[in-house]
Amino acid sequence: MKNLHTTFLLMAIISTISAQTTIIPIESEDYALVLQTDEFKRLRNIYFGPKLSMASDYAAIAKQLRYKGTNEDVFNSAYTPSGTWNVSEPALQIAHHDGNGSTELEYTKDKTETLEENISLTTIDLFDPVFKTQVQLFYKVFHKENVFEQWTVIKNGEQGKIELKKYASANLYFRNKEFYLTQYHGSWATEMQPETHKLTAGIKTLDSKLGARANLYAPPTFMLSFDGVATEESGKVMLANLAWSGNYRFDFEKDRYDNLRLIAGANNHAAEYELSENESFETPHLIYVYSENGKGEASRNMHRWARKYRLWNGEGERLTLLNNWEATYFDFDEHKLVELFDGAKKIGVDLFLLDDGWFANKYPRNDDSAGLGDWQENKKKLPNGLGYLVEEATKKGIKFGIWIEPEMVNPKSELYENHKDWVIRQPNRKEYYYRNQLVLDLSNPEVQDHVFGVFDNIFTKNPDIAYVKWDCNSIIYNAHSDYLSKQNKPQTHLYVEYVKGLYNILEKVRAKYPKVPIMLCSGGGGRVDYGALQYFTEFWPSDNTAPLDRIFLHWDYSHFYPAISMCAHVTEWDRAASMKYRTDIASMGKLGFDIDVDDLTADEQKFCQQAVQNYNKFKEVIWRGDLFRLQSPYENEVASFQFVDEAKDKSIVFSYLVTRRYDTGHSFEPIVFKGLDENKKYKIKELNIYPGTTSPVDEFAVYSGAFLMNVGFNPDVSTRRNSVILEITKL
Ligand code: DGJ
Repeated sequence: MKNLHTTFLLMAIISTISAQTTIIPIESEDYALVLQTDEFKRLRNIYFGPKLSMASDYAAIAKQLRYKGTNEDVFNSAYTPSGTWNVSEPALQIAHHDGNGSTELEYTKDKTETLEENISLTTIDLFDPVFKTQVQLFYKVFHKENVFEQWTVIKNGEQGKIELKKYASANLYFRNKEFYLTQYHGSWATEMQPETHKLTAGIKTLDSKLGARANLYAPPTFMLSFDGVATEESGKVMLANLAWSGNYRFDFEKDRYDNLRLIAGANNHAAEYELSENESFETPHLIYVYSENGKGEASRNMHRWARKYRLWNGEGERLTLLNNWEATYFDFDEHKLVELFDGAKKIGVDLFLLDDGWFANKYPRNDDSAGLGDWQENKKKLPNGLGYLVEEATKKGIKFGIWIEPEMVNPKSELYENHKDWVIRQPNRKEYYYRNQLVLDLSNPEVQDHVFGVFDNIFTKNPDIAYVKWDCNSIIYNAHSDYLSKQNKPQTHLYVEYVKGLYNILEKVRAKYPKVPIMLCSGGGGRVDYGALQYFTEFWPSDNTAPLDRIFLHWDYSHFYPAISMCAHVTEWDRAASMKYRTDIASMGKLGFDIDVDDLTADEQKFCQQAVQNYNKFKEVIWRGDLFRLQSPYENEVASFQFVDEAKDKSIVFSYLVTRRYDTGHSFEPIVFKGLDENKKYKIKELNIYPGTTSPVDEFAVYSGAFLMNVGFNPDVSTRRNSVILEITKL
């Protein structure tokens, strides 16, 4: 609070210092984004970096910038319009009511308010004096976490319709010489592969045009390093995510001064948006965290922010589970499922999750080509319905959860037969399918009600269902909405309205079912962003559960998302890997199993039981603690992740062998721990010891935090001990 008051006072002083121009510092605990108007009332980004200590410092910045006065040199606009002086990539492009394509934005006013402790909101009003278009820029700051949330609202003040041709969420400007962009890409089962490169002159664009499952190829997520590529402990770095589960576009433009313009928002491709008189459009929100102390700190701040402010029930509990997908695929009936419940009980997880294949009768869901959309229990597989399964699970002392994919439909389904008009498709063209399915038209309120109804009916009939996995497997082809046509709305609204429709549904779901944990799944990790995660407790990062791949996947996702949100299941994807290796890796996320427990050997079962018990003892540290990425799997033979609780009393370190090459022993050096208290004394115990083996770790030895953080500790990882979990406890 004190900090905020000081900020407001500083801002008041600054306004008086500069009579003609307005300076707007937007400060977090450590950093500031500063905006200033020029002589034509254009709002410019003049600074992004550490907070400055004297009020007058901000007023002195602009004088240090000696860009040529000519218009083509205005690269640092805070929201770049088009059609007038701007000759670079715009943030905003409008066709006005008379077709005129010119927009000019003048500053009119700003205000900063405290929303609650730790959160402030700065709103800046801009105005086109000719066309009366109003633009409001919003900057929400989460002070302690150094997280910024930025978006824009555009209002049509004209007499007649206008068309937004480009409508970015944020337009930032960074003064520096070198920038390194880490972007992520992949496909099904290969999500989130990083690639880092130096940005060069011109524009680099990252985008998606997939509509639904929009980040199948690339998530709306990036890391930007300044000067050189940031390490865990050093370097200037920004981690960003567009909170939007649809098409997105990031433009990184290096200007003639080598500075970087960033324009981020929903993708405007085939998505021009019409506004009637007085109608407003709110863009998606861009979330970013900045640090000058490396990406480790940036991630920890992002995690804290996500747990506290974003993820549904981010600071709450989670359930361990047994999923039947890989154990049975579509081939099951109620007897088989009830048998599998025993396995869940045996290894001690909280819940059994029934996956795809439980529904549809006219076109039974026995593979992925039919039945999607017909959400009645399949009478052959489940003659006694879901209610029976919930009861049986309860009798066995476990909870029961269910898979749905309510946004989608197979053409071979009753839903499709009865409601072709609810399906996104071109009426006069061949249909194209992704996984044999099509996407429902969520721009249509009737379809939104239907999708909400799928969820609601299941819970009305079976109120004791304790968990939902919400899947979304298809991208959008043939983007066309029957509903929008009937409403005389442009088809180009579809991509935006789809996402808004989805969020409407999820709002309703959450209003009625606040307590149910819901997993965000999209054929693996095809839809992970902080827009969707407002409604979900956790997400499925990938169908790829091969343990070695998961180490890399976890490494990369962990830059943006906290461990409590990342579902990690032990599966049979890589049978060559030991049960211990698989389980230890899954234990650093939200633990689950996707196996038939009866197929395990007695030792494997015993091990899993013990691992679940251990997980229950240390999960608080994983879910709520700070993550230190100690050794990268990309650069080391042994990858290592450490979680530390807030009090620095307890820590869990996971170390995994990531290569079998040069098998001469791998832990030659100790791993240097982080985040402990150097003055505290700790003991170290190895967990998850496989039946019949012993640990070389001396449980009784005592080490100072200083020792562990300077010398380190050797977990003794080798091909015979290819994963080691250490529990570090304050004496
Ligand atoms: C894709 C998901 O990622 C899988 O885990 C599984 O639920 C299948 N869909 C079911 O069809």
